[in-house]
Amino acid sequence: MLVLGIETSCDETAASVLKDGKEILSNVVYSQIALHRPYGGVVPELASRRHLDTIVPVVEEALAKAGVNLKDIQGIAVTRGPGLVGALLVGLSFAKSLCAVNRVPLIGVNHIEGHICSIFLEKEVPFPFLSLTVSGGHTSLFLVKGIGVYEVLGQTRDDAAGEAFDKVAKLLNLGYPGGGIIESLAEKGKPKIRFPRALPSADSLDFSFSGIKTAVVNYVKGFSSLSENSKGLSLEDIAASFQEAVVDMLIKKVIQARRLYKTERLALAGGVISNGYLRHRFQEMAAAEDLDLFIPSPYLCTDNAIMIAWVGNHYLERGKQDSLDIDALSRWKVG
Ligand code: KG4
Ligand code: ZN
Repeated sequence: MLVLGIETSCDETAASVLKDGKEILSNVVYSQIALHRPYGGVVPELASRRHLDTIVPVVEEALAKAGVNLKDIQGIAVTRGPGLVGALLVGLSFAKSLCAVNRVPLIGVNHIEGHICSIFLEKEVPFPFLSLTVSGGHTSLFLVKGIGVYEVLGQTRDDAAGEAFDKVAKLLNLGYPGGGIIESLAEKGKPKIRFPRALPSADSLDFSFSGIKTAVVNYVKGFSSLSENSKGLSLEDIAASFQEAVVDMLIKKVIQARRLYKTERLALAGGVISNGYLRHRFQEMAAAEDLDLFIPSPYLCTDNAIMIAWVGNHYLERGKQDSLDIDALSRWKVG
């Protein structure tokens, strides 16, 4: 079965053609980063307008790269939520019109379910397993008992981890998006500063990342009044210390969950997982904890339409489809 995936939930216009749920025939991602960079974050209205401009060429390119025509496509999977509603509507309306004209089934996909399932494009992971999804909008820990059966074990009470990277980079005037910038800076620094690790409570698997952001701001305020040399610390050290603290907080809750639920496997997902330091730290932790760790390739971690096509293909194969009057959902709990 050939499924066309479409993703427009935030600032990437993406389309992909997936064959039989495993062969990636094309993967086109048009990023709007340059458009939003001057504002230090995604501007929803600008995002929707840019999706409108790019959706047709992106889908055409995905079909051309896959070497297929629209008439070969047997189902269309599109992100229905969660995300920016105006941005979602562009992909969803376009997908609906393609389905109506070509008389193929439509399936609306949950973006977070897409992230969770991105690992299945590369690996088979036996159920049940823990899934840690860390992106710009979400930081959640799930117990995955099957496709579509996700128990939320913990989630962020305030900022998502990726959001913390972006906000800290903005506060330090480093640019947007913050993740990659902070990672490169951190490579040249040392984690000399002990920023506080917020761990809501010992019996909760929830996360919190707004405190670390404030801690970095307060630290930098004091820092600018001191000469750099007097403390022997640099921006690179601040970046490395911040990154270490975020990863420590993620790892701590995963270890807690692993012991509580006695699970032997962990899969990671989401844009922040493309961070090389984080990947390395999780590998060390998995070896120490005797956990089987599954990490998708970086191109599957950041937003893409392959993961949307994969989830869509799974449900379409089981005879599920949505009607052409479904709405976009800015909030939509997974599972
Ligand atoms: O999953 P994603 O592409 O989009 C959302 O669904 O949010 O994640 C984007 C987030 C941004 O906050 C970005 O700063 C972060 O992922 N990110 C990173 C890295 N690359 C992207 N965070 C840390 N290190 C990275 N290398
Ligand atoms: Zn995402």
